[in-house]
Amino acid sequence: MCGIVGYVGLQEVAPFLLQGLKKLEYRGYDSAGICELNGKLHVHKTQGRIADLECLLNQKVISGSVGIGHTRWATHGAPSDDNAHPHYDCTGNIAVVHNGIIENYQDLKTLLIAEGHVFRSETDTEVISHLIEKYYQGNLLEAIGLAIKDLRGSYAIAVLAQDSPDELVVVRQDSPLVIGLGMGENYLASDIPAILDYTRNVYILEDGEMARMTRDTVEVFNKELVPIDKAVFQVEWDPIQAEKEGFADFMLKEIHEQPKAVRDTLAGRIDQDGNLTISHDIPVSLVKGITKVQFIACGTAYHASLYGKCLLEDLLELPVETELASEYRYKRVKADANTLLIVISQSGETADTLGALRLAKAKGARVLAITNVVGSTLAREADAVMFTHAGPEIAVASTKAYTTQLACLYLIAAYLQEQLLGRVDPSSLIALTKIPDQIASVLAMHEERLRDYAQKLVKATDAFFLGRGLDYASAMEGQLKLKEISYIHGEALAGGELKHGTLALVMPDVPVIALVTQSLLKEKMVSNLKEVKARGGDILLLALADSGDFSDVGDEILLLPSTLDFLAPLLTVIPMQVLAYYAAKARNCDVDKPRNLAKSVTVE
Ligand code: M6R
Repeated sequence: MCGIVGYVGLQEVAPFLLQGLKKLEYRGYDSAGICELNGKLHVHKTQGRIADLECLLNQKVISGSVGIGHTRWATHGAPSDDNAHPHYDCTGNIAVVHNGIIENYQDLKTLLIAEGHVFRSETDTEVISHLIEKYYQGNLLEAIGLAIKDLRGSYAIAVLAQDSPDELVVVRQDSPLVIGLGMGENYLASDIPAILDYTRNVYILEDGEMARMTRDTVEVFNKELVPIDKAVFQVEWDPIQAEKEGFADFMLKEIHEQPKAVRDTLAGRIDQDGNLTISHDIPVSLVKGITKVQFIACGTAYHASLYGKCLLEDLLELPVETELASEYRYKRVKADANTLLIVISQSGETADTLGALRLAKAKGARVLAITNVVGSTLAREADAVMFTHAGPEIAVASTKAYTTQLACLYLIAAYLQEQLLGRVDPSSLIALTKIPDQIASVLAMHEERLRDYAQKLVKATDAFFLGRGLDYASAMEGQLKLKEISYIHGEALAGGELKHGTLALVMPDVPVIALVTQSLLKEKMVSNLKEVKARGGDILLLALADSGDFSDVGDEILLLPSTLDFLAPLLTVIPMQVLAYYAAKARNCDVDKPRNLAKSVTVE
């Protein structure tokens, strides 16, 4: 989730590149850089925001009229000057910017180093520049065509070669790229907002397509370098709509980004046969000999930890505890050198979470972080980190941060099983790889219905979210989503707990969102729902397809694609996010910036 821009024309490149990068800063903002071609390639890059790059460029003379630029959201290697893009090859003849994740970069890097290539960064991207160098024989397009045959993963790549001074060559696979068509100049961007001030005529590249851009021509090819006749697309979005990719709000956009976000989380961590490849994230020494697992987190991340606790309790023969970070800080800390402390935080900067982490660390606990932000305080202070790779989350309400945290937790659970119990179940990991497509189909199948159902919530003062086992953990996240953006009171309850008090609030038409995905608890849950039904509650029931007939308890029944019970929370949360979103919209709430809340809570 970074931003790419590029230009070939007669103007000086810096104004376009800088302005384009500013428009894409929401895509990534930990470092930025440009490369201009002016007889020679000149790379200027820095850690920090685009404003820092602008200061750097103000001290230089930039006169090239061909260039590429990048704003980075780190995935491999912390934010730093060296890790910022563009990246050169060994000779300085090739410069590359890249969005996406190269899954097999470690193997490629080892190979290239053995062949004598010298690396200057910790990024996955740098293997691309060295691969192109390896294949380059004077034809940049051909060299890139060969290089991408070696790559596994997702990429949008833009490349300049010093001895091919009039062209910019690009390629895309699972990461967007658009080419803006001008008069005597052409523009490149990973996202439409960057070029809207210059042109509305664009080529939208499809997966596997490459393009060679000069100031007067744009030629598009498939991977075999066969030319393609591309249709020009006229962009009609205004700049704000374009930033949200046509969605009304960042939250809705981020809800829809979840298939890709979870795919990125899994990228390079499960091979085709369902084997785990995460020992580079979590060294074996970190987990060998542990006698206890503790989770700490806040808010949505805490709800993810509830999932982690249920999962690990079921799969491991170890005690597992989870604690709100703000509570953990003021209790007697029961951690030692054999405790694996799993700290979850989207931002990696939450004050309570960091405070709790430091206490446990002082007791000798081994710290494994799950975070979305490379270079965050949490990432720096933990012994090992599993990055979620969700890309920047702008809406205050977490959506893709949560699902990617669950995906990480599932991977960690499988890894602990493998390392501590010597057991692996490749079929369950194969089931996990199907989740991104299943999330997409939940959205495609149910969004409209949920938008309608949300109208029922609009008038409600309370809504209850019921579940048992893992479904209870998911219900906790469902109620938080509803509360924080729609300001309707939501409450999560374990199904069996209802009759111990809260049932008193269930009256005709009170909305109850019921999660029934856990096979062993299904009958019990249905009995709990009958208690609701008998009091006239209105039940929206979420279940996995082919798991039974719920028509006697559900007023509305939403069937989700069938998956393992353990993986159901990655699907049930989607309708709850969508429901919260449309309830908030129907009440005219500011969905992206709910009142009284901040994205990152850096004070206690
Ligand atoms: O950045 P963190 O994950 O540490 O943030 C913790 C909570 O503040 C956060 O999860 C919050 O609850 C969500 N944004 C709510 O949707």
